[in-house]
Amino acid sequence: MEIEKFKLRDKILWVFRGVYRPAQDSLMLLDAVIKLDKNFEFGLDLGCGCGINTIFLAEKCSEVLAVDINPKATRNTWINVKLNCLSDKVHVVVGDLLNFVGRERIFDIVLLNPPYLPEDEYDKYISTFEKLSWNGGVKGRNIIDRFIHTIPQFLSGKGIILMVQSSLSNLKETIKMFREEGFKVEILETSSFFYEKLHLIKAFREG
Ligand SMILES: C[S@@+](CC[C@H](N)C(=O)[O-])C[C@H]1O[C@@H](n2cnc3c(N)ncnc32)[C@H](O)[C@@H]1O
Repeated sequence: MEIEKFKLRDKILWVFRGVYRPAQDSLMLLDAVIKLDKNFEFGLDLGCGCGINTIFLAEKCSEVLAVDINPKATRNTWINVKLNCLSDKVHVVVGDLLNFVGRERIFDIVLLNPPYLPEDEYDKYISTFEKLSWNGGVKGRNIIDRFIHTIPQFLSGKGIILMVQSSLSNLKETIKMFREEGFKVEILETSSFFYEKLHLIKAFREG
């Protein structure tokens, strides 16, 4: 199996072929995780990919759950968890968003760098799991919409969500949906790239 090996700050990061290769969106989220100025009890990294954010989130949490629908991604995350000696506090599972997680699980911080690009006519030639790394369906919002509807019941009262969103998949709709679910939304950062802007969103309940 082809593996790329990186050193990222004090961490070792391996990336398997066929797993999302960390890009600007991953790094934008990572930067926000590194800047967190408090510690949390339970963390969740949804769509963990190679685990780039999981291994840094683990430093800020007592326990972390990392989930991905792609079994190769969860194997990749688990290797990175082991390489960085974090296996005592990180659990990695294959799953479709939170479908398998019991309602009793409540998280204090949730990360999501979703597949957010609108479907492309050439996507049909790409394998399903690779496509799921970036393809968010016709409007790019399949995972985003499901996430915003599902996550409220899994987030503690003072819990926060950190999420990356592209200008290509309707930021205004995301903000509106979070507000309808009772969240306050802050855009922590925006970066412009050649064909899109990336936004880092923080969502949390007021009060
Ligand atoms: C843009 S990649 C982000 C990977 C990693 N978090 C990062 O920042 O580099 C999106 C990830 O979400 C995963 N994914 C897509 N649909 C999913 C679903 N329904 N449930 C869980 N994970 C999903 C993909 O397999 C992929 O690893």
